[in-house]
Amino acid sequence: MNKIEDSPLSILYVSHGGGPLPLLGDESHREMVANLRQVTAQIARPAAIIVISAHWEAGKATITAGANPSLIYDYYGFPKQSYEIQYPVSGEPALARKVLALLKDKGIDAELDDQRGFDHGLFVPLKIMYPEADIPCIQLSLVDSLNPVEHIKLGEALAGLGKENLGKVAVDEHFAMIPGALEEAIRRDLEQGLKPLCVVATLGTTGSTAIDPLKPIGEICEKYGIWLHVDAALAGTALILPEKRRMAEGIEKADTFVFNPHKWMFTNFDCSAYFVKDKEALIRTFEILPEYLKTREAERVNNYRDWGIPLGRRFRALKLWFVIRTYGVKGLQEKIRRHLQLAEYFVKKIEASADFELLAPVPLNTICFRYNTVGRSYSTKELNQLNADLLERVNDSGKAFLTHTKLNDIYTIRMVIGQTQVEKRHVDAAWDLIVAEAKRRR
Ligand SMILES: Cc1ncc(COP(=O)(O)O)c(C=O)c1O
Repeated sequence: MNKIEDSPLSILYVSHGGGPLPLLGDESHREMVANLRQVTAQIARPAAIIVISAHWEAGKATITAGANPSLIYDYYGFPKQSYEIQYPVSGEPALARKVLALLKDKGIDAELDDQRGFDHGLFVPLKIMYPEADIPCIQLSLVDSLNPVEHIKLGEALAGLGKENLGKVAVDEHFAMIPGALEEAIRRDLEQGLKPLCVVATLGTTGSTAIDPLKPIGEICEKYGIWLHVDAALAGTALILPEKRRMAEGIEKADTFVFNPHKWMFTNFDCSAYFVKDKEALIRTFEILPEYLKTREAERVNNYRDWGIPLGRRFRALKLWFVIRTYGVKGLQEKIRRHLQLAEYFVKKIEASADFELLAPVPLNTICFRYNTVGRSYSTKELNQLNADLLERVNDSGKAFLTHTKLNDIYTIRMVIGQTQVEKRHVDAAWDLIVAEAKRRR
């Protein structure tokens, strides 16, 4: 996670005063220099740096876009050596063009400048933080330097840089990731000089509970040295059943795995269980150690504040512990099995009905279906409307609550059987209600 290519987009606020003085060994800036160096030691090394500098005064925001920008010594009245400082860093014109496009997209007036050099707002802090000058940089110089609205708009625009690096992999007819398509996408990225960082596979997608094939996906990730995260938000609970563990075949190749006991393991919101193979990778990424957080216990305990972003956190493990103690593993297994049986029971009702059809495989407890009477030829648009109306009537009754999604543009009703005390009579009642409401408007 800590290699150049793997650095996530992050924003660092650096306050720097005194023009060139911090670089000249000035006593009053010593603490500031030490702080900047400490920050560098604690963050992942970036692949490129965009410095957003607040004090350039052109008519609109400018982005330094030259391949080898010079330095502008825009400070006055300092000792002679202040004007001899060098920072021979390269520019990153492609990134400059990308940033310009993102700003324009958000209606922020800006232009590229091939001639402009880096001003001291860039080279002074960077020479302290990265003295080798080996990380390409661009400088975005703002007009309205301290206007918070401008700053927020800018942040929104730059957030697009993250999304642009997110790729979607094609899925098969069951909505599960196609490993061949994943490998193709990785190869395409590599050919373009991009370095894929992480693959997120899902056990039980939100829309249809599709199960991605972890084994081949894991092998591909291993081959290309890519972090594999497995999101089993709802479906992870089913892994407490030995007969369901097959769906996680290949899980040993995952670097991280998460599931939400608050979804299907009877634990009050919120509680997400997160498993990580190499905790050091998290610590290297998130650890901060200011003086007031240093304790004698650091070696003896897991400091979870260093495994993620928040420092303060609730003790969620405690309520999960009580759930496990209350039901016992056997009790939990019985409940989950019961839910799966009820889901199968509901599936059979749909299969036996001439008025309803399944729209996705049902590996667990989510049933994707719609109203569609055999022998009547509705258009997709009509069916979408009919089913949206049906869902609304069912929910308006106050007796059941169903959700929907769209699978290949088809309006899909979702029935989830996972409530702690659900019984067959509830499922029967829900089915009768759905059938009655479907009949009402035919
Ligand atoms: C597959 C999947 N991942 C993630 C989430 C969101 O999880 P969380 O509530 O922990 O952010 C959901 C649903 O809420 C989900 O279905």
